[in-house]
Amino acid sequence: MRRAVCPGSFDPVTNGHLDIVGRASRLFDEVIVGVLINQSKSGLFTVEERIDMLREVTSSYDNVRVESFRGLLVDFCRAQQASVLIKGLRAVSDFDYELQMAQMNIGLAGVETLFMPTNPLYSFLSSSLVKDVAKWGGDVSAHVPELVREALATRLTQP
Ligand code: PNS
Repeated sequence: MRRAVCPGSFDPVTNGHLDIVGRASRLFDEVIVGVLINQSKSGLFTVEERIDMLREVTSSYDNVRVESFRGLLVDFCRAQQASVLIKGLRAVSDFDYELQMAQMNIGLAGVETLFMPTNPLYSFLSSSLVKDVAKWGGDVSAHVPELVREALATRLTQP
């Protein structure tokens, strides 16, 4: 079984994330989307909300499942019996930090990282940017699935 992990914060999932997950699902028998539980950083959405949205928008992929993890990513990979990480690279600016993490992760536990070039449609996209645009009433419908757009609108207009 060739199993890969797509890790991230997914606060919230964007079309850029989905592009990577979908392409990875065609390359591996199983893809596990790993949502980081980061106790030192509270997000706009809870981890449970992020997972619910991810499960909904990946439901058409039979070989994708969504789990959360805390602690080291390599320990999560070991627990899931996955030896490959998939990371999207949007631009060369992503590369330095991603390379550091990839080298650390292979040194720590022999977990390989494969970089996948982001679809150019999404090369400028990030969850932070989407949240900022949505916060000020900008249209994010081209950047996130409809249910995420609705969740952003609801969350950001709550008093
Ligand atoms: O979507 P993000 O926030 O850019 O994802 C970052 C993530 C989750 C991939 C990274 O923060 C991570 O791997 N965290 C887990 C803790 C860990 O293993 N740290 C060492 C990395 S070499």
